Amino acid sequence: MKRDKITIIGSGNVGATAAHWALTRRLGDVVLLDVVEGVPQGKALDLLQSGPVDGFSCRIMGSNDYADSANSDVVIITAGLARKPGMSRDDLLAKNVAIVKSCAEQAANHSPDAVLIVVTNPIDAMVYTAFKVAGFPKQRVIGMAGVLDSARYRTFIAEELGVAARDVNAMVMGIHGDNMLPLVRLANVAGIPVSDLISPERIAAIVHRTQHGGAEIVNHLKTGSAFYTPGLAAVEMAEAVLTDSKRVLPCAAYVEGEFGFSGCFLGVPVVLGAAGVERIVEFPLTAEEKSAMAASEAAVRKQMADTGL
Ligand code: 2OP
Repeated sequence: MKRDKITIIGSGNVGATAAHWALTRRLGDVVLLDVVEGVPQGKALDLLQSGPVDGFSCRIMGSNDYADSANSDVVIITAGLARKPGMSRDDLLAKNVAIVKSCAEQAANHSPDAVLIVVTNPIDAMVYTAFKVAGFPKQRVIGMAGVLDSARYRTFIAEELGVAARDVNAMVMGIHGDNMLPLVRLANVAGIPVSDLISPERIAAIVHRTQHGGAEIVNHLKTGSAFYTPGLAAVEMAEAVLTDSKRVLPCAAYVEGEFGFSGCFLGVPVVLGAAGVERIVEFPLTAEEKSAMAASEAAVRKQMADTGL
């Protein structure tokens, strides 16, 4: 049986960690690609050698040559500079536009049927860049962030209540930035609304911490940004595509009228399957939520303009 093929572009912390998660989940054969010579090869060889212990039989190779990525089913773009303390995600924009352009162009040439998952920051602008350059239909270009931000939100709610994080259902929509919208109204623990369990002041603190969850980690690390959960979030999305599971996950998807927004990528709940974003799951927002989404959209549009595309 032919195994699925996943290419991960960028062998830094996020890319290598995504490769690790992909192997532990037996997603398929992995190509770890980077312009830096030696790093993808060394990390891939190290990961390959974990196979006998972990028990996977998927292959992984490191490469500097896009030819090795040919005919991938999913391509995850992580290449780019990471945030340093004091840097916003926007500060990265100009440098990472050039990198993502090159990655998306070459990925599209070598894997014309792939689903592209973009992780490079600022994600909402980078996924737009990849969409413009790859020329793929909107369903096959998706930005990671909602899964990561929602995971942070769920973790903080679980910690507040001393309950298992897996029993917390909570979603973050909008931009992957300070204007993101952690939805309070729909957040629940095993179906019980969090607003019945946590005081409004504590919920506000959790929402604020979620919105600045990336910066909190950057401030600890000092030399880089989060990678374990960003890597896993991308793999969670790839798995939904490769297994055609129809998971409903918050992702940056190209909106054309959904939630009242058009012509940009915004974090919204989507059905993920073999075709990529098979559907955006639209539902009524309150006036307050709508205005938070409008603030997200305005921030995304500024980033889009800054890409020059
Ligand atoms: C984060 O939120 C790196 O943007 C990423 O951690």
